Amino acid sequence: MSREIDIVRSVADLRARVRYWRDQGLAVALVPTMGALHRGHLSLIAEGLERADRVIASVFVNPTQFGPEEDFSRYPRREAEDAALLGGAGCHLLFAPRVSEMYPAGFATTVHVAGLSEGLCGAVRPGHFDGVATVVAKLLLQVRPDVALFGEKDYQQLAVIRRLVRDLDLAIEVVGCPIWREEEGLALSSRNAYLTPEQRAIAPALFRILDTTAQALTQGGEVSPLLAQAIRDLLAAGFDSVDYCEVRDAETLAPLDRPTRPARLLAAARLGTTRLIDNVAVGALS
Ligand code: PAJ
Repeated sequence: MSREIDIVRSVADLRARVRYWRDQGLAVALVPTMGALHRGHLSLIAEGLERADRVIASVFVNPTQFGPEEDFSRYPRREAEDAALLGGAGCHLLFAPRVSEMYPAGFATTVHVAGLSEGLCGAVRPGHFDGVATVVAKLLLQVRPDVALFGEKDYQQLAVIRRLVRDLDLAIEVVGCPIWREEEGLALSSRNAYLTPEQRAIAPALFRILDTTAQALTQGGEVSPLLAQAIRDLLAAGFDSVDYCEVRDAETLAPLDRPTRPARLLAAARLGTTRLIDNVAVGALS
């Protein structure tokens, strides 16, 4: 049922709300986001409602996960629309802190998940996953939810967060949710809004090519030639450059020569200044 959602901006108010629910024995879910919400985000809210009595969404465009040349200042900020969408989706509370609440003067701590944060997106965006791990650790400790939901869309991010939760003994269940796509296969992303109509027409090729390549890999095709072909196909489809296109172990993200364990095919490619990422499952060969 649609309702107007309450917004809290301070950690103290957030904690008071969570304590009130806890005192009633209610289970709490958290869905961290950077806003400019779309149906992919709302699918995480829906999954949260299945798994807990109360769902909190956070909307915080986290400065520490953007590089100096990246889109922090132009990242879309639409709090009123986000609040309406969250209310309509049945979310119970929106935590929308200001930067000074999350990073007060003197803030000095960084959470670094070694190994998983390197390579793939980490190679092109140095420091990015430290920013993600730090803000997610803070959000998880601020709310202390029973369950936290993240999308497989950001597959490496999900692996980093799973590791962080295990390593820091946080008693929180991390749930990975499937990628929500447009009809032609393009993964929904807040950054799709940057695309020109011409670029938007090219964008679905990313999923199409990954999907075809994953099928060939699942059927036992050789990894290197298939990846080289996928990169050629992406460039031929109109992408300006390909940051990476790789097959990794689905859990550890270790590089694989042959997908003998459940694997994941992951890619990042650029259309002008916009960087799109996507990934698909590759079945294990026996
Ligand atoms: P953001 O890009 O807003 O994404 C918030 C959550 O929504 C992430 O878990 C992401 O994987 C998920 N998501 C995005 N697009 C999706 C899609 N098409 N289908 C399913 N899920 C999707 O990821 C972040 O924000 C930030 O890095 C954050 C974790 C909030 C830390 O700042």
